[in-house]
Amino acid sequence: MDKLMQAREKINKIDSDMAELFSLRMSAVKEIAEYKAEHALPILDACREQAIIDAASERIDNEEIKAHYINFVKSNMAISRAYQAELYPLHMGGVLYDCEGVKKIRMQLEKDAYDIILGCGTISLADKYFDLNRRVLIVTDSGVPSEYAQKVASKCANSYIYTIDQGEASKSLENFEKILTFMAQNRFTRTDCVIAVGGGVCGDLAGFVAASYMRGIDFYNIPTTLLSQVDSSIGGKVAIDLGGYKNTVGAFYQPKGVIVDPELLLTLDINQIRSGLAEALKMATTSDAELFEIFENGSFLDDIELVIERSLLIKKGIVERDEKESGERKILNFGHTVGHAVESLTGMLHGHAVAVGMLYVCSQAVKERLLSIYDIIGLPTSAVIESDKLFDFILRDKKADGDSITITYVKEIGKAELIKMPIQKIKDLL
Ligand SMILES: NC(=O)c1ccc[n+]([C@@H]2O[C@H](COP(=O)([O-])OP(=O)(O)OC[C@H]3O[C@@H](n4cnc5c(N)ncnc54)[C@H](O)[C@@H]3O)[C@@H](O)[C@H]2O)c1
Repeated sequence: MDKLMQAREKINKIDSDMAELFSLRMSAVKEIAEYKAEHALPILDACREQAIIDAASERIDNEEIKAHYINFVKSNMAISRAYQAELYPLHMGGVLYDCEGVKKIRMQLEKDAYDIILGCGTISLADKYFDLNRRVLIVTDSGVPSEYAQKVASKCANSYIYTIDQGEASKSLENFEKILTFMAQNRFTRTDCVIAVGGGVCGDLAGFVAASYMRGIDFYNIPTTLLSQVDSSIGGKVAIDLGGYKNTVGAFYQPKGVIVDPELLLTLDINQIRSGLAEALKMATTSDAELFEIFENGSFLDDIELVIERSLLIKKGIVERDEKESGERKILNFGHTVGHAVESLTGMLHGHAVAVGMLYVCSQAVKERLLSIYDIIGLPTSAVIESDKLFDFILRDKKADGDSITITYVKEIGKAELIKMPIQKIKDLL
């Protein structure tokens, strides 16, 4: 018994010494985290870790405990990495760097949390970031190069590709029913999942299917248009259109993970790129004066990934603060009151219509700066519609609320405000 007590005493003393060393080690880890954050280096440095393991194995002669010591060192390194990952969001505005330079943006909501993976070639890592070990329904559309959905399917053991027709008309009750029926026929269960591989149309429809099937199954999104990469794939708004009105039936349903691979944009039509840039510009105008300058000086043309990353960070922040759009998130509807009407009545692309819409709800100074950027991007500045028709549509759209409409107004770049605009004033504006 004495022997046991003595040995335990020794352990207590060693644990207490080790606690001091642990604190010292973690403060060195913190310094490293700061350096890595400043220089945008990945948390994991595989070569450095291997060198530490090699040195550890030299340090211990006793073969009986050598392997245990190496495990101890490995656990220390895992703890250090986790600590660095915790610190990084503070330094990098929410971006974590995984090994191989893949960026991770963590969406942290009240009930849900998920990673947005950003980087070229990340579509091939779907099985690393998504749980594909189950039945997987991949929803894509006829305009998305089929190899994208096939690439994802090749990572799954049991997948089905469902292809809808390209275009807004596919965000319909009819497709919603068809896909649910397909899933039931193929015996999808509550533990299976849906992945959208496409633009906002696929994402909105597939997300609503996932939200509804058996009261909700896991949903992942791999956006393939710029618009869906900067905006629609995160935030959890899923919907279909009804009777010619956009997003009338839908839900808030967060994905379990999102992969944003800018390489997928190489096949995208230039007009679709313009449409996505308009949504990113919308976010810069309401919330990020620096990103606005990147648009203004034309440098966005050289670094589309930067535009995607900054837009995702803006949206992440707003959605984290107001997931269900009870307040702040409404500013992301900047330009949408007129934009939705223009899109529905003319068939103009979503981003182009929003670009037209933004010009109605900002100060003259903002309008002038926006117009010079539209010129660089090649965005429309107006649409030909009878003003009565436009007005009627806006009144019937879901944002009309009694005798006024809540709109996002931008007086100064980076600062948006919500104002209630009397319907008569909207009529005068149009
Ligand atoms: N849920 C949200 O928060 C949210 C936000 C903004 C917009 N939206 C919705 O998003 C939709 C618009 O999304 P969109 O602009 O992505 O349009 P989209 O999904 O219709 O895609 C545009 C076109 O590009 C094609 N395409 C897609 N990826 C491609 C690729 N990599 N290469 C070649 N072609 C490709 C598609 O086949 C389609 O013809 C609208 O329905 C809008 O209401 C939703």
